Amino acid sequence: MGIIDSIGAGVTNFKPGDHVLISCISSCGKCEYCRRGLYSHCTTGGWILGNEIDGTQAEYVRTPHADTSLYPIPANSDEEALVMLSDILPTGFECGVLNGKVAPGSTVAIVGAGPIGLAALLTAQFYSPAKLIMIDLDDKRLTAAKIFGASQTINSASGTAAAEVKALTDGKGVDTAIEAVGVPATFVLCQDIIAPGGIIANIGVHGSKADLHLEKLWSHNISITTRLVDTVTTPMLLKTVQSNRINPAQLITHRFCLDQIIEAYDIFSRAADTGALKVIIAA
Ligand SMILES: NC(=O)c1ccc[n+]([C@@H]2O[C@H](COP(=O)([O-])OP(=O)(O)OC[C@H]3O[C@@H](n4cnc5c(N)ncnc54)[C@H](O)[C@@H]3O)[C@@H](O)[C@H]2O)c1
Ligand SMILES: [Zn+2]
Repeated sequence: MGIIDSIGAGVTNFKPGDHVLISCISSCGKCEYCRRGLYSHCTTGGWILGNEIDGTQAEYVRTPHADTSLYPIPANSDEEALVMLSDILPTGFECGVLNGKVAPGSTVAIVGAGPIGLAALLTAQFYSPAKLIMIDLDDKRLTAAKIFGASQTINSASGTAAAEVKALTDGKGVDTAIEAVGVPATFVLCQDIIAPGGIIANIGVHGSKADLHLEKLWSHNISITTRLVDTVTTPMLLKTVQSNRINPAQLITHRFCLDQIIEAYDIFSRAADTGALKVIIAA
């Protein structure tokens, strides 16, 4: 979130003083990928903020392609809640819920109850699935998941998570398995719990190769999707927050000023001890 200080020569949609949401994905709006809604693959943008160029944890930030990468914030908005729309809400929704085709009455398991998994949990509820099972190793996060609408939670430290999911779904497994961790074990767990005809929607950023058990899955009519968040749903998600359909502010556990950023990172990096979910840093 920010307030426009000055604009470049090519910017026509914003003026100094405007309050804006800064998307994690920059898009030119004109290239072949942007025209197809694949902003994450914009040939002169995409995931560059905090990745290829400086990020936004600063007093002043230059936003590339500002006209098509910033979103105006209506007056009197809960700007802290809208911080969740920069990245985690569209990520959970687009990569998990939309790619996973969550549907009314369907069964869904989300592996990983971090901010991204919880964002998928919040936005999956737009579609009223019959079961929303959250799986994690951290009981604090599973308790938060229950508060945010999980129908069941499973601590997978026991090694029996797949059997527990099967028991909850008449032995079938789930229609949608959302991977929100990014390690080989959780991608394999998604394969163990997916029902015939189901979709494994991978969100996690994987740093190493993961097994794909085609010897089991070849006949199960499943689909696997991957996605870098495009943030095409940000305007729609903004409306759902404005109308109190979802309350992403409940993900905020800690608040710091910019000069306390070292402490903020320490708290965030020890989430299992501190219970941190999302941390607000005010400049
Ligand atoms: N695809 C995208 O565009 C995109 C965008 C943003 C983030 N991500 C990725 O989404 C993933 C989740 O992000 P986050 O911020 O919620 O991360 P996080 O690290 O805060 O949360 C991950 C959760 O997974 C749990 N976990 C770890 N190992 C597990 C295991 N073996 N079994 C079950 N649970 C386990 C942890 O306890 C934690 O609660 C990361 O890989 C992140 O890089 C992807
Ligand atoms: Zn583009």
